[in-house]
Amino acid sequence: MTTSSNFKKNMFTLGIETSCDETACGIVDQDLNVMANKIYSQEEHHKAYGGVVPEIAARAHLEKISPIVSSALQEAGRDIADIDVIAFTRGPGLIGSLLVGSSFATGMGRALGKPVFGISHLEGHLAAAYLSDNTLAPPFLCLTVSGGHTELCVVEEYFTYRVLGRTRDDAAGEAFDKCGKIMGLGYPAGPRISRLAEKGKRDYIILPKGLDVRNNYEFSYSGVKTAFVRFIESVSEDHVRKNRENICAALEFALVEILVKKTIRAMEEKKIYSVAVCGGVSANTYLRQRFREETEKRGYRAVIPHIALCTDNGAMIAGMAQMRFNHGKLTRENAVFPSLSWPD
Ligand code: KG4
Ligand code: ZN
Repeated sequence: MTTSSNFKKNMFTLGIETSCDETACGIVDQDLNVMANKIYSQEEHHKAYGGVVPEIAARAHLEKISPIVSSALQEAGRDIADIDVIAFTRGPGLIGSLLVGSSFATGMGRALGKPVFGISHLEGHLAAAYLSDNTLAPPFLCLTVSGGHTELCVVEEYFTYRVLGRTRDDAAGEAFDKCGKIMGLGYPAGPRISRLAEKGKRDYIILPKGLDVRNNYEFSYSGVKTAFVRFIESVSEDHVRKNRENICAALEFALVEILVKKTIRAMEEKKIYSVAVCGGVSANTYLRQRFREETEKRGYRAVIPHIALCTDNGAMIAGMAQMRFNHGKLTRENAVFPSLSWPD
């Protein structure tokens, strides 16, 4: 088995992410420095439909994957031959979109004679925290909040996870997007809600917080969503337009506070005083601020990735592959395409 102790200096791992509507490629070195992180966001392709259309996403990935990989190599100042390991998102995600990334990565591996590995998208999001703070080490809690997932787990050891709770219905990002859609904010609504909320009043409307009970680490957003829809239906369009900032601030408060409250409670109950907050929703300014406030005042620690690493990207996939390689967890035997040459 090849481990960190015997691989050559200046090893580079390239990661491809195509699980949903971002065509992305990132490159990291063996010390987990991000050399490149190129993202093509398909927002424009899906805007008119109010959500991601799987068929359109797969076609757009097919069109953009090659240019994105080339521009990542250019950003890193590397030639394709310098790449030692190729990684791609193996799931979860849209099957057609995933297929584009895995086929492209496998094709590259075959052409270059380099090993290819599939990486879990969720574990990739966690890598964004390791890439942002290289002192982060287990045990710690990990809260993953994205468009598809809301999950709180204990990272007991590197690559060993114990799930404490998940959402019973919508993911946090999904709740942001669906509520924003009702307000006419387009897709994805999360970033727009975040911007509008900055100047609003958090108590403008009082929305329920899902599953706010002790010893329960599950999440639920259906109650907030229903209450929010009822509110929007009870007022005029003009009222919504004129009070967008206040409405967004109150919505953001309801969606974020329960995440902070339950995570802090889990830290107290489990006596684990570090948390990594990952996934697209961790780009939310209010969430970042609230996690910092609540952890700092207790002397706890919150590791929240750099904004560019929060939403889907290729560096997080390359990062997790590189971490697994460094810990001797990527071997010839578990490669999708074993390759002729092995990084030495
Ligand atoms: O991790 P991600 O890029 O894709 C998935 O794996 O789902 O997360 C996308 C989600 C979307 O729901 C988007 O609205 C949300 O993250 N998001 C935000 C912000 N930026 C992205 N939600 C709230 N505030 C933000 N600033
Ligand atoms: Zn994601």
